[in-house]
Amino acid sequence: KKLKIASIPGDGIGKEVVPAAIDVLETISDLHGGLSFDFTEFPYSCDYYLEHGEMMPEDGLKRLSDFDSIFLGAVGDANLVPDHISLWGLLIKIRREFEQTINVRPAKQLPGIQSPLVNPNDFDLLVVRENSEGEYSSIGGRIYRDEDEIAIQNNVFSRKATERVMRFAFDLATKRQKRVTSATKSNGIVYSMPFWDEVFKDVSNDYPDVETDQQHIDALTAFFVTNPSRFDVLVASNLFGDILSDVGAGIMGSIGVAPAGNINVNGKYPSMFEPVHGSAPDIIGKGIANPIGQIWTAKMLLDHHGEEEIGQVLLDVIEETTSDRIVTADLGGKHTTKEVTDEIIKRLKAK
Ligand code: NAI
Ligand code: MG
Repeated sequence: KKLKIASIPGDGIGKEVVPAAIDVLETISDLHGGLSFDFTEFPYSCDYYLEHGEMMPEDGLKRLSDFDSIFLGAVGDANLVPDHISLWGLLIKIRREFEQTINVRPAKQLPGIQSPLVNPNDFDLLVVRENSEGEYSSIGGRIYRDEDEIAIQNNVFSRKATERVMRFAFDLATKRQKRVTSATKSNGIVYSMPFWDEVFKDVSNDYPDVETDQQHIDALTAFFVTNPSRFDVLVASNLFGDILSDVGAGIMGSIGVAPAGNINVNGKYPSMFEPVHGSAPDIIGKGIANPIGQIWTAKMLLDHHGEEEIGQVLLDVIEETTSDRIVTADLGGKHTTKEVTDEIIKRLKAK
């Protein structure tokens, strides 16, 4: 199998960690005869903007649409271009135009890494977030009434998108611990959340082997901090998923290890894999960026293309490396980006 991958290192440490992760993927392809990658690099970034006046050319999306997946580093360098221009001109454009309506973020206790939790207890969970509608709709407005000013923001939950994200979560759960928790708030939000619960129940009927449970978002967020090991797959609306996935990155111990996927479910366009962190302007060029977020992101790309077995080997190797404390400064270590990457490559070759 040959995967055509568009790589967009982007800005800042994206240019340091994307090549590192590509080295890892090339090693995997050398080791496994059946799998190879055809990488094409695109220079879309703030530097590109300074030269061309746009984050990507007019036919940029068309060019990217030919690929199996997009592998992105980070976008944004406010010293060069205001964030709203760089993010909306590239990252958000790709997510929207390529109908990447679901965001997936794992959170797992990596051995050897200090979680800020008192009792991290080996958590290993996956937040599946609806990423196209819900609370982040553009429907609403501001009105004046009885000498008061009122802002109204409508939540939009379509059956199609709600079912889509739930099915996606259940499908993932069947490959894991077979548990799905729904983030709800139907005790306080009277139209959208009871609907969310109803669709959750309907979809769960199609997955009799998967255990289900639903929790109100407030209690659920507290459990993330007190007992995250009780969760396997979580499914959440746009706002609730946004919050949960950041808490998930937080409890891992460093934003530098957290991966993410933006998934196009209908297969019409490529999905995009990117770490949670940004371009980290404060450490650019020092060679100390943690490459694990980007390398774990590569594992998600492998999983997405059905290479779960190799993906698991890669995650095992990442865990061995952190367990032996071959880690960068954000995790309290002294190792460089290159040393961590080389160690992961060395261990992959030894498998
Ligand atoms: P950031 O994630 O770039 O940095 C936050 C802190 O975490 C910094 O102290 C940084 O040094 C550290 N950090 C992040 N990744 C790390 C890594 N791999 N290894 C070691 N330390 C790491 O977030 P910030 O500073 O808010 O944003 C910087 C720029 O990145 C902005 O222009 C922002 O818009 C953009 N950004 C882009 C994202 C994306 O492309 N998806 C996501 C978040 C921010
Ligand atoms: Mg967020």
